[in-house]
Amino acid sequence: MAIVSSYEQNGEDSNKSPVKKSKNLDGAATKADLSNEKGNKLRPENFDEYIGQERLKQTLSISINAAKKRNDLASLGHVLLYGPPGLGKTSCAYLIAKELGTTIKTFSAPALERPKDIIGILMSLSPGDVLFIDEIHRLNKVTEELLYPAIEDFEVDLNAGKDDSTRIMRLKINKFILVGATTKLGYISAPLRDRFLHVHRMEYYNEAELGQIIEKSAAKLSLKIEDKALLEIAGRSRGTPRIANRLLRLVRDYSEHLEKDFLDLETAKKALDLYQIDKHGLDNMDKKILEVLINNYQGGPAGLETIAGLIGEDKNTVEDYYEPFLIQSGLLLRTQRGRIVTEKGLEYCK
Ligand SMILES: Nc1ncnc2c1ncn2[C@@H]1O[C@H](COP(=O)(O)OP(=O)(O)OP(=O)(O)O)[C@@H](O)[C@H]1O
Ligand SMILES: [Mg+2]
Repeated sequence: MAIVSSYEQNGEDSNKSPVKKSKNLDGAATKADLSNEKGNKLRPENFDEYIGQERLKQTLSISINAAKKRNDLASLGHVLLYGPPGLGKTSCAYLIAKELGTTIKTFSAPALERPKDIIGILMSLSPGDVLFIDEIHRLNKVTEELLYPAIEDFEVDLNAGKDDSTRIMRLKINKFILVGATTKLGYISAPLRDRFLHVHRMEYYNEAELGQIIEKSAAKLSLKIEDKALLEIAGRSRGTPRIANRLLRLVRDYSEHLEKDFLDLETAKKALDLYQIDKHGLDNMDKKILEVLINNYQGGPAGLETIAGLIGEDKNTVEDYYEPFLIQSGLLLRTQRGRIVTEKGLEYCK
């Protein structure tokens, strides 16, 4: 069974922790002090560093403190985080465990293939542990059904005996907190979704919030940067912290290439133009989506598969990554009949 790694696949990963690559179940555990997350030094280390998502932070903090006071960590209830990639779902899961002072075990749903995978994991949990299942919409039916009694009554069903004398044995397990993350809430079955106490949609970040994230990241990278340059990067980050950090790194490279020791606005703009990130954060693929709709379908409607085929991209990437931001920016509409470019989108492409 492969255990998902939750550190970022990017340039700062030179020091990857082997912890989550282990095949051993215990090896998946990460004490939630994030010290095992050396690979991604830009991941927030506490809720103060976790910028934005105020409603999420507030409601979780209230429930976490209440659970701690009750001396019953698992009474926090299970947490489901959903929304587009890079908005902080994994980071939030780590912070929940850290605030609880407990251990997090991280898995990707497709890795939990066989019944014994999930049963083994459930039985290995200590009281108050956080079990983080990423891409939870991809759990198979059998695993999902094994999970129901575990998250509802903290019990697992085991098959005992050989074929003809098979009977189900119910075993108590330690009380834990399931944190699920998904980019596709609609793909989660109602019975699973209803078993989460906290269901949170991750919001896109505004420019001020992204500016704060970039400022903190620049400090961690020991980079001196002008405020206006910070905001320029923020404006082109399509509301997404992961992209903000990525653009910051690209701009830093460009500035170092020019041997500058202070990153100013002009340098930031030149670098972002060089990397073809436009003023609204749209990249070439975003523009291509709008253009194929305009040029081939007079702006739409056209189906997702058609669009994906025309731009040569995977349909899931178009749906999960490109479309949410185009929709959020008011450039594209998702309708029953297909995707349509809005007036604003038409104007943008003129
Ligand atoms: N609220 C935040 N404050 C500061 N930095 C953040 C915040 N959210 C995310 N980040 C930064 O963005 C990066 C990506 O976030 P994260 O991995 O948590 O996103 P995700 O929602 O799990 O994405 P995916 O759906 O692709 O798994 C983090 O490593 C961190 O550097
Ligand atoms: Mg994630």
